[in-house]
This record gives sequence, C-alpha cells and structure tokens, in this order.
Amino acid sequence: MPSQIPLLLLFMISPLLLAAPPPVSAQLSPEFYETSCPDALSIIGASVRAAVAGDPRVAASLLRLHFHDCFVQERLPGCDASVLLDDVAGSFTGEKTAFPNRDSLRGFEVVDVIKASLEVACPLVVSCADILAVAARDAVAALGGPLWTVQLGRRDSTSASLSSTNSDLPSPFSDLNTLISAFAKKGLSIIDMIALSGSHTIGQARCTVFRTRIYSDNNVNSSFASLLRSKCSIFGKDNDLSPLDMSTPTVFDNGYYKNLLSKRGLLHSDQQLYLNESGLVSSRVSLYAKNSTKFFRDFASAMVKMGNIGPLIGENGEIRTNCRKIN
Ligand code: HEM
Ligand SMILES: *[C@@H]1O[C@H](CO)[C@@H](O)[C@H](O)[C@H]1NC(C)=O
Ligand SMILES: *[C@@H]1O[C@H](CO)[C@@H](O)[C@H](O)[C@H]1NC(C)=O
Ligand SMILES: *[C@@H]1O[C@H](CO)[C@@H](O)[C@H](O)[C@H]1NC(C)=O
Repeated sequence: MPSQIPLLLLFMISPLLLAAPPPVSAQLSPEFYETSCPDALSIIGASVRAAVAGDPRVAASLLRLHFHDCFVQERLPGCDASVLLDDVAGSFTGEKTAFPNRDSLRGFEVVDVIKASLEVACPLVVSCADILAVAARDAVAALGGPLWTVQLGRRDSTSASLSSTNSDLPSPFSDLNTLISAFAKKGLSIIDMIALSGSHTIGQARCTVFRTRIYSDNNVNSSFASLLRSKCSIFGKDNDLSPLDMSTPTVFDNGYYKNLLSKRGLLHSDQQLYLNESGLVSSRVSLYAKNSTKFFRDFASAMVKMGNIGPLIGENGEIRTNCRKIN
C-alpha cells in the first residue's frame, strides 16, 4: 500500500521537526538595513560613543537594557523592545516598574536620542529592538571589550509583560541551579550563562541587592566585605552604588572572573559561579580569569545567541516611531 508510505514517513520525521526548529538567525541578517538605512549602524555607534564618553556607566546600562529586553517573552517575542515602553496611567502597564527594573534600568534617554536621529535619516525603518542590540555591542566595544557582528531585522512589540519580567529575569539572590535554569529557559547553555555574567565587569549595583552578600554570606572575602559594609549599612543607603568590578569598573575586561577567584563577587549570584575549586562552572571561571581572549570569544558568541531570542519578524509587530510608546 504505497499511499501509507508518506504517512509513515511523516510520523518518522515529525518528531525531528519538533525537536529542531529552524535557527532564528536564518531570519535575521547583518545586512538588513544595507539599502533601507545604510547609515543606521554608524548613527547608533556615534551616539553610543558620545554618550559613553560623557558617562562610562552608560555602556553598562545599555548592555543591561538589551539583556532585560531579550529575557522577557510571554510566548515568542524576546528581543522586541518591550522593555522600553512607558507606563500610561490607567491604560498600559509596561515592564519598567517590575522588581528587576524599577529604580535600576538606565539609558532610556540615550535610546531616545538614537531613535530621533534615525527617524530623521530613515523614518520608520530601524526598530527599537535592533537599536538595543547594536547599542549593546557598541557599548561593550567602547569600554575595550570584544566586537561581534549583530544580526538585524527584529521588529518592535505592541505589548509588554510585567509578570514575565518579574518571573524570568534572574535574581541576585539566586543559587547556581536557579541561574542555570533561568538561562536554559531561554535556550542558553551553562557556558553562555558564565560568559554573559562577565558583563558584571562594568557597571554598578545598589546596596539593596548586595547587602545580604556582605553581611550574611560565608563565601565572601573578609577585607572586601568590610570595605563594602562601610558603604552599604545594614539599614538605609538602599540606593547607594558600588561597582560590580571594583578594580576596573569602566573597563570591559576579565576582572569579574579574577574577583570571583578571590571571593570578591559583589552579588550572591556572582559568587555562585565560583563556590570552590572543583566542577565545570568553577573551571570555566578560572579559564576566563586566565585567558581573556577565550572570554571575549565566548562572550561575543553568547551575545549573538541572546540577541536571537524570539524576535518579531516579517509582518509581526511594528517599527515604533518613538521607542517609549506603541505607534
Ligand atoms: C546571571 C544572572 C544575573 C543576575 C542575577 C544579574 C543581576 C544584576 C543586578 C542585581 C544588578 C544591579 C542592579 C541595581 O542594583 O540597580 C545588575 C547590574 C548589571 N547587569 Fe546583571 N545580572 C545577571 C546577568 C547579566 C547579564 C546576562 C548581563 C548582560 C548581558 C548583565 C548586565 C549587567 C550590567 C552591565 C549591569 C550594570 C548596569 C548599570 O550600571 O547600569 N547582567 N545585574
Ligand atoms: C581577599 O582579597 C584580597 C585582595 O583584595 C586577596 O589578596 C586575598 O587573597 C583574598 N582572600 C581570599 C581568601 O580569597
Ligand atoms: C563545589 O561546588 C559545586 C558547585 O559548583 C558543588 O556541586 C560541590 O558540591 C562543591 N564541592 C564541595 C567539596 O564543596
Ligand atoms: C586563550 O584562548 C584562545 C582562544 O581559545 C587560544 O587560542 C589561546 O591559545 C589561549 N591562550 C592560552 C595562553 O591558553
């Protein structure tokens, strides 16, 4: 009965199809704006370099914006600029007031400036989601980090999810297994997680997120903890800042991993990557602490993977005129 053969084949093939969806990068492309907005990348790059020259922390803030955009997806959309939408009293709730974002995310004004320039050069062409991906890359480069080719063609969401922001972004109080699961949920490996955590080689954190680390953790360097206790008291000073990498806070290097080897991770979650000398995770931290070339390579490839999390493509979503609101 030949008519049953195709059916049989279908049954044999379908589990494979389910197991291996087409790679998202097949739909995004580095040349996406080559004809529609040839100056897009140079406009973004120039704005990022100017902003970082004025305040180096802006580089860290832009990098984190892309992360907080990509990790929040209700069903499919990930890197969709949902993080940039402002709340509108009574009618729209965005992601800015979620716990990981409130009083913490920065860089929105830099994105506004970039978007305004792009709307002059090529109106309604470059998405806010792509601005975040390119700005993150240029921010890292501006502080001496690695370069990579950015995939482009993401479109912007017309919705946002406060609840997914609260549930899907990893917490600074998490233990190793929880961190691994949070990244696995987004299709990122343990190695990706370790490499991306190296982002904490730049930028600042508030006392409120590392207080328990310096007062209650036992795997903390004692001189490091006492220095920080003088800046972050048990009560009050919640919003006082300390650098995530105290030695070189405005240089994108492998200092983060060196800190972990001497128990000087600022966040509880940071030090979880180096609890003792044994195990796959700790040995990867040691490798990156010794070899910054290896860290840079793995970081760059993990950033591309993170940037590919569930983009809106084709006719889905929109190109916003103002990154803060739906058209
Ligand atoms: C592994 C899980 C992670 C946790 C638990 C975590 C948590 C945090 C926390 C609590 C802060 C300080 C926020 C504040 O006090 O206002 C922070 C800052 C930062 N995070 Fe992460 N993060 C993680 C992974 C990442 C990743 C994957 C990236 C980028 C790819 C990233 C980039 C940054 C940067 C650059 C800053 C400094 C931002 C600034 O100075 O404005 N983090 N992170
Ligand atoms: C604590 O940090 C200092 C540098 O600040 C380092 O010399 C020392 O070895 C560290 N102690 C431990 C136990 O890692
Ligand atoms: C070392 O740390 C790993 C996690 O990285 C943990 O699974 C293991 O139990 C620890 N070993 C010791 C001896 O503490
Ligand atoms: C550092 O890593 C790079 C990239 O994997 C490798 O080519 C190089 O040999 C490593 N250097 C050392 C000193 O191990």
